[in-house]
Amino acid sequence: MLKSRNILITGATDGLGFELAKAYASRGHRVVATGRQLLTNDLDFFGSPNIAYIRADQSEPEAAARAIAQAMEKFEWGSIDLAILNAATGWTGHPADETPEQIDHQIAINLTAPVLIAKAIAPLLFAAQGQLAMIGSTAANGQAQFATYAATKAGLEGFVRSLREEWRNKTHVQIIHPGPTRTKMHAKAGLKTGMVRMFFMSTKRAVRAIQRSIRNRDGKRVLSRAYGWSSIFSSAKEGEL
Ligand SMILES: NC(=O)c1ccc[n+]([C@@H]2O[C@H](COP(=O)([O-])OP(=O)(O)OC[C@H]3O[C@@H](n4cnc5c(N)ncnc54)[C@H](OP(=O)(O)O)[C@@H]3O)[C@@H](O)[C@H]2O)c1
Repeated sequence: MLKSRNILITGATDGLGFELAKAYASRGHRVVATGRQLLTNDLDFFGSPNIAYIRADQSEPEAAARAIAQAMEKFEWGSIDLAILNAATGWTGHPADETPEQIDHQIAINLTAPVLIAKAIAPLLFAAQGQLAMIGSTAANGQAQFATYAATKAGLEGFVRSLREEWRNKTHVQIIHPGPTRTKMHAKAGLKTGMVRMFFMSTKRAVRAIQRSIRNRDGKRVLSRAYGWSSIFSSAKEGEL
């Protein structure tokens, strides 16, 4: 029989996080999904009784980390098998036009919050000898019109490298860098992608590729379209994530 795991996914109200939550729940795993929105009915929103939602707005990183730690107590989770820290936001434009508030906002959501959340859930991850998967971006190598966003993802990679050493033998730590994917993220950041969007990876394929990287416990994985394609033919065996 499939072993049901405890899975935390941040930023699960849209895009990759939403699809990951539904994919893991459909395999019988218990999912705690987080986001900035107030939801009135988790079941209507996610369509699965295996997903519980809590509001954890990462623009206030300390409060978000606290809300997640409190939710773990409320749901009586003594351990977390897998945490996917996925929530992020972007701002697009020339760096000279970016305000200090826009810069702080992205750093809070994309970098400070995942660091504090990782710290808050560490004992539960250690209890399961679990997995922590950070969602980065290929923008970590530098991305025109997305300078601060790129910097937050590069910062996350540095954090993951350090944590991988510090948490060795306690929890597997990895970073997965998706390439451009057909979610609403670009539009939310103010970027019109136009026809180029056709060449982006589909959300479904990116989700399969992320799941495969998690299953394979890749340390660092860049999601190319080719990796996305090959993930279509790779599915979890019974009891696997
Ligand atoms: N799409 C791409 O091309 C691409 C490429 C590389 C990396 N990524 C990374 O993939 C991850 C998922 O992105 P996506 O494309 O799925 O974007 P998305 O569709 O915009 O989803 C992002 C999620 O994060 C949530 N979020 C935003 N601000 C938040 C806050 N203050 N507190 C808590 N949650 C917040 C969003 O909530 P709302 O529903 O309220 O907006 C949403 O649930 C991100 O880490 C992103 O950087 C995406």
